[in-house]
Amino acid sequence: MKSIENQIDNILKSGQSAIGDVQDKDALQAWRSQYTGRSSELADILKNLKDVPKENRKEIGQKINSIKQELEQLFENKSLELVNLSNSDSNDLHIDTSLPGTYKKSGHLHPITLALRETLAVLAKLGFSTVEGPEAESSYYNFDRLRIPEDHPARDMWDTFWLQSDQSKDPLLLRTHTSPMQIRFLEENDPPIRIAVPGKCYRYEATDATHEWMMHQVEILAIDKGVSISNLKGTLQSFAYEMFGSDAKIMLRNSYFPFVEPGVEMAVFFRGEWLEIMGAGMVHPDIIAAAGYDPQVYSGFAAGMGIERIAMLLWDIDDIRYFYQNDLRFLNKF
Ligand code: FA5
Repeated sequence: MKSIENQIDNILKSGQSAIGDVQDKDALQAWRSQYTGRSSELADILKNLKDVPKENRKEIGQKINSIKQELEQLFENKSLELVNLSNSDSNDLHIDTSLPGTYKKSGHLHPITLALRETLAVLAKLGFSTVEGPEAESSYYNFDRLRIPEDHPARDMWDTFWLQSDQSKDPLLLRTHTSPMQIRFLEENDPPIRIAVPGKCYRYEATDATHEWMMHQVEILAIDKGVSISNLKGTLQSFAYEMFGSDAKIMLRNSYFPFVEPGVEMAVFFRGEWLEIMGAGMVHPDIIAAAGYDPQVYSGFAAGMGIERIAMLLWDIDDIRYFYQNDLRFLNKF
């Protein structure tokens, strides 16, 4: 009896000492079959249990089981140790679930999206709700209804990307400004109106430091009884101070757009020069009348802001062309 018990104890001792030398998975498998496998010494003892006197059989059987469990535990521990070892040795990516999570920046908004959102947020504070219009616009809304005559230079082949060439059939074009939404919105809605219309606009013109062939505008339109030019001035001033800070140097000067009377443009002092950021004016009485309202009672103002120019001011960027070159050294700064 004692000799079998000693034999079993020695198996455990030998297994404990041998596992210290195991360095890899193959050696661990070999260790497992030697100590707990079907042809192991322990398995032989179990097979021959019938030769053990009956009164000791139970005790020996239990001892074999408990030693086997200890050996299995040694196997589990070693195999975990080997996995951790191979993870920390390897240069491959691995997941250490014991480490705290890390945040990896995978992308961010484009500066023009940021400037557009900021513009709309400031306009929302001033009471303008956002609506959108079509990017492929008809010549009728883009030009005719805005009192832009047939012979206006903006209709020239060189200024507009036409989507259809037959000029006799109200051809589609890529909108050159967001102003057509003034007309579309007035057709469907009654005053009081206070909207902001963001969107991409296209001009078939040469690019330079302040001109792109595709740019974003935000149109604002406010129509109600008794709206005056001081409302326009106050709104534009509040907008500019909110966007660029109250120390921004701003200027309103005369300008001409066929759909407003009078027309102005707003410029902001930037790098020693005045940078024009928007055209604006009082909605032309003909447009109010065409929408079915008495221009003696209803009046309003409108403006079309250039978002790329606003972004140039926000981040002190001296060339508009940086925005669409997709140079990550530039884009990653935002
Ligand atoms: C217009 O587009 C008029 N629709 C604005 C308007 C709306 C006037 C409502 C009156 C009432 P203008 O072409 O000036 O106007 O463009 C308006 C603004 O868009 C400019 O001040 C400028 O900031 C921006 N912009 C115009 N063309 C370009 C361009 N090629 N590249 C970058 N920004 C431009």
